[in-house]
Amino acid sequence: MSDKSKKCIVLGVTGGIAAYKAADLCSKMVQAGYDVHVIMTASALELITERTFLTLSRNPVTTTLWDVPIWQPEHIALAERADLLVVAPCTANFIGKYTHGIGDDALTTFALAHTEKVLLAPAMNPRMWQNAAVKENIEILKTRDVEFIGPEPGRVACGDDGLGRMAEPVEILEQVKRLF
Ligand SMILES: Cc1cc2nc3c(=O)[nH]c(=O)nc-3n(C[C@H](O)[C@H](O)[C@H](O)COP(=O)(O)O)c2cc1C
Repeated sequence: MSDKSKKCIVLGVTGGIAAYKAADLCSKMVQAGYDVHVIMTASALELITERTFLTLSRNPVTTTLWDVPIWQPEHIALAERADLLVVAPCTANFIGKYTHGIGDDALTTFALAHTEKVLLAPAMNPRMWQNAAVKENIEILKTRDVEFIGPEPGRVACGDDGLGRMAEPVEILEQVKRLF
């Protein structure tokens, strides 16, 4: 059951292989006393199940714009309550869509309606991180006061070494606390 006395965080989970680490982040944020609502993209659902986040967040998980039991779409209901949007892992695709105002699923549509703080934890192959379009999108988002954490150097899942690993959940939680 949603607790209105707690700070409300929307955790957006996108289709990066680090999606499994988002489960740990979700658990840590709940243990830290936040009311966590998860929105998953279709690609994230290919990598980790909705039930994991349902159980860890103790709140319904949004996976589509269209399956809404009440009159008010969930992305608008959440946008009225959310104090912070955290997207972890955050794909190059989400960064591109968010920069350019595209809302074609529950997460990107929520992000367009959200007016409070935003923290993105990018995670991708180092070559994607170096892509000129990705770099330019990040610079644009920084001018809009969007906060970033990571990525960090090291070995990414596909075997390459470089900058692309998602920041560790414990570090993201510390950044969340700082933002509040
Ligand atoms: C196994 C697998 C792992 C992937 N990992 C990443 C990743 O870490 N970062 C990224 O930006 N894209 C990654 N992708 C590509 C994204 O899933 C793809 O761009 C997708 O359209 C992202 O959709 P979303 O942003 O709506 O979740 C991966 C794809 C596959 C098949």
